[in-house]
Amino acid sequence: MAKLVIQGRNKLKGRVKIGGSKNSSVAIIPAVLLGDGPSTLENVPAIRDVQVFAQILKDLGALVSLNQNTMTISPNGFASHVAPYDLVRKLRASYYLMGVLLAKFGKAEVGLPGGCDIGPRPIDQHLKGFKALGAAVSLEGGVVRLHANKLQGAPIYLDIPSVGATINIMLAACMAEGTTLIENAAKEPHVVDLANCLNAMGARIHGAGTDIIRIRGVKSLKGTSHSVIPDDIESATYMMAAVATAGDVEVEGVITKHLEPVVAKLREAGASIEQNGDYIRVIGPERPDPVNVKTLPYPGFPTDAQQPLTAMLTRARGVSVIHESVYENRFGYVSELIKMGANIKVQGKTAVVEGTSRLVGSPVRATDLRAGASLMVAGLSAEGTTEVYGLEIIERGYESVVEKLKGLGADVRRVED
Ligand code: EPZ
Repeated sequence: MAKLVIQGRNKLKGRVKIGGSKNSSVAIIPAVLLGDGPSTLENVPAIRDVQVFAQILKDLGALVSLNQNTMTISPNGFASHVAPYDLVRKLRASYYLMGVLLAKFGKAEVGLPGGCDIGPRPIDQHLKGFKALGAAVSLEGGVVRLHANKLQGAPIYLDIPSVGATINIMLAACMAEGTTLIENAAKEPHVVDLANCLNAMGARIHGAGTDIIRIRGVKSLKGTSHSVIPDDIESATYMMAAVATAGDVEVEGVITKHLEPVVAKLREAGASIEQNGDYIRVIGPERPDPVNVKTLPYPGFPTDAQQPLTAMLTRARGVSVIHESVYENRFGYVSELIKMGANIKVQGKTAVVEGTSRLVGSPVRATDLRAGASLMVAGLSAEGTTEVYGLEIIERGYESVVEKLKGLGADVRRVED
């Protein structure tokens, strides 16, 4: 295990290059298995989740080469409809293999993804979609088994705009017979990125990014080249670190449209923000103003940015109210912030943060990826030394995080524990 050791209070300054989207990459990597030929993916983040997925694809028989941020995948050896359980349990997004294996082989065996620190994470909407397309679904021994002699397009109304269900159904439907309609679909940027990649492979998907996605099944798909969109949550995290340290930071290589809800909220918190082409400059005030926020599916404020935002607000000049409406319990990390002197009260899905003038560094532990991001932001703005245990968890979703923070003038180092 490793820890991130931070000497806080340095004002972050300078430019940081934002990498490719983790959540888009973990959807597109399995998706290109549907092509009859090789695909090349650019701007893939060099993070552990991507490396684990590359190994999963190799275990399934595909040829995969990963060179820093470029991945090439040749599916012609891909012949197994059984996902390797030991790897699947390491990576929740491996559940996209359900849609891919079903579309490719008419059958799939994929270990159930576990819940995690932010809630039970059910997949009932995914399974509802597969059933609507004509698949038989069984759940036993922790494995989802799917089978369909033929996938038939169908209308599917999602009970909630689930990102995972929208993506999994899109993957299963793109070579089904006939037309599939996904209503109440998720509109996240990475849903659109996947649709664009599948369409470049020959799929006929329209309406991604709206709440109605129409998918006309095609007979086959070909390989393609695709560049993954930038990671809006990585951008949001560095922007919030800038505000938390009264710094002056430019995040570059972003799509400003994807960050509109974050920019709006940081302006409310007193940051001055300039946007120009593919970069955003964030100048933080001495201490942020308090804000109220409610996390919502896109284009609402992203739930994945709730934790770093809460950390930023622990030093606000007043009381902020944060409502987490996407997950059941995504405030588990708050107890670690309280160790650092934060004044937060959690009541169900709402956290009330009473800003204090100072946080004090302390040993804290990352329990999930964005909780780790929160503790990192808090440590950067705290006095003294903060040790964030579980740096590997942060590195799951933040490429070269220690180097990027150092590049912004943070006093941080990675220490093997
Ligand atoms: C994706 O998870 C992201 N992960 C999450 O990011 C992100 O928090 C989430 O979307 C919301 O934006 C990836 O893209 C790999 P959902 P996903 O299905 O697809 C409930 C991160 O930190 N639900 O939109 O699992 C579910 O329990 C991760 O990068 C059902 O009830 O999110 C949750 O409360 C964390 N039944 C809510 O919907 C279902 O069948 C949103 O889930 C599916 C979901």
